[in-house]
Amino acid sequence: MDNMNLVFQMNKFVGDLHVFKTKVHNFHWNLVGEHFFVIHPMLDEIMSEIDEQIDSVAERLLMAGHRPHASLDVYLKHTVLSEVESKPYCAKEAVNLMLGDFKVLLAEINIIMKLAEKEDNQATLSLMTDIAALYQKHIWMFGAWLA
Ligand SMILES: [Fe+2]
Repeated sequence: MDNMNLVFQMNKFVGDLHVFKTKVHNFHWNLVGEHFFVIHPMLDEIMSEIDEQIDSVAERLLMAGHRPHASLDVYLKHTVLSEVESKPYCAKEAVNLMLGDFKVLLAEINIIMKLAEKEDNQATLSLMTDIAALYQKHIWMFGAWLA
């Protein structure tokens, strides 16, 4: 991994995932109304997935001889996501906000994949392809649920 732009994009993604997990936790805690018993535990699963993704992307950076970003201050400086306030969220509102974030994150993944492709970095490409496939599934399911 010689392209410092790729290293930066992956580090930015580590930060995006931290912000995203905080938002999902927010929705998990502040969820109200109908569908609570379905959406509340589903958000636990999404958070577990995000944790795994954070660890995998950060460790891929380390395997390539780089150091992952590891501070909230740095994450917030570079993230493409915006945080939301702590207030009650109904299921549709929470799912809709997460759907938007999944789309933004998928666009970030596509940037990383293009850079990884350029340097024939198959390990990074494979990792990001798996994450992208999972996000595409969530985007489809969230969209179907909201329809
Ligand atoms: Fe919980």
